[in-house]
Amino acid sequence: MILSTLQKKKYTFSLGLKLPPYLDSKHLQQAATIINAYSKMVRYVASINTIGNALSVDPVSEAPFISSNNGLAGLSGPAVKYTALANVRQMRNHLDAAIDVVGVGGIETGEDAFLFLLCGATAVQVGTCHWKEGPKCFDRICDELKAIMAEKGYSKVDDIKGKLKAWSKEGAALTRAAKKKQQAEEEEEEANKTDAAQEKKDEDYSLKMMNNILMVVIVALLAQRYGLYEYLGLE
Ligand SMILES: Cc1cc2nc3c(=O)[nH]c(=O)nc-3n(C[C@H](O)[C@H](O)[C@H](O)COP(=O)(O)O)c2cc1C
Repeated sequence: MILSTLQKKKYTFSLGLKLPPYLDSKHLQQAATIINAYSKMVRYVASINTIGNALSVDPVSEAPFISSNNGLAGLSGPAVKYTALANVRQMRNHLDAAIDVVGVGGIETGEDAFLFLLCGATAVQVGTCHWKEGPKCFDRICDELKAIMAEKGYSKVDDIKGKLKAWSKEGAALTRAAKKKQQAEEEEEEANKTDAAQEKKDEDYSLKMMNNILMVVIVALLAQRYGLYEYLGLE
């Protein structure tokens, strides 16, 4: 209704729309059809807003974590990431190419940003993570994204944007191999840690023994110096 009013009044500015999460693909498609009818006016959509009507309960106080609205509020952060990825992916598929999709929902790392770009986002928004970590999260996320791109040989965002591949046996095999490699690396790291801890233990023990021997030698020398052996009849 707002869009049709604006169009009738022949406003010329561009609009960005913040979209709710659609939990049913049909609803998402219907929303995209409506938005496409205003493609001259709508420049981008940001998908998704929080998932409404969530309740977080504190086991210590046995009460809701937040005071307002009987503790009911919108859900954000990592818990909404998969819904957000699905919405971004489908919105990108249904919307006119001229309308950009900004991905938002649970983005905390460069890898998260990478996934949203693959699903067709032109840009990403970071909400909850910024609230928890502060503005330094932006540089960190950018650096992590750059590192992933460099490792995979991508030089620009357009190399990734909307390039989500179809599931394949070859892809799944790559994932299994990568997991196996990571597991082996973690096991090696754990073994190195154990070796280092044992080495430190051995070193500490040797040092203690040397200290004890030194003490015995010093006591023996002092005893000799002050004639203790003679006094005790040991010489
Ligand atoms: C405390 C808080 C306040 C928010 N206020 C708004 C708002 O005023 N307008 C809006 O469009 N979205 C608002 N959002 C939703 C976020 O913009 C974002 O869509 C959602 O939190 C998912 O992203 P995130 O997981 O990165 O936080 C708010 C979210 C939070 C947690």
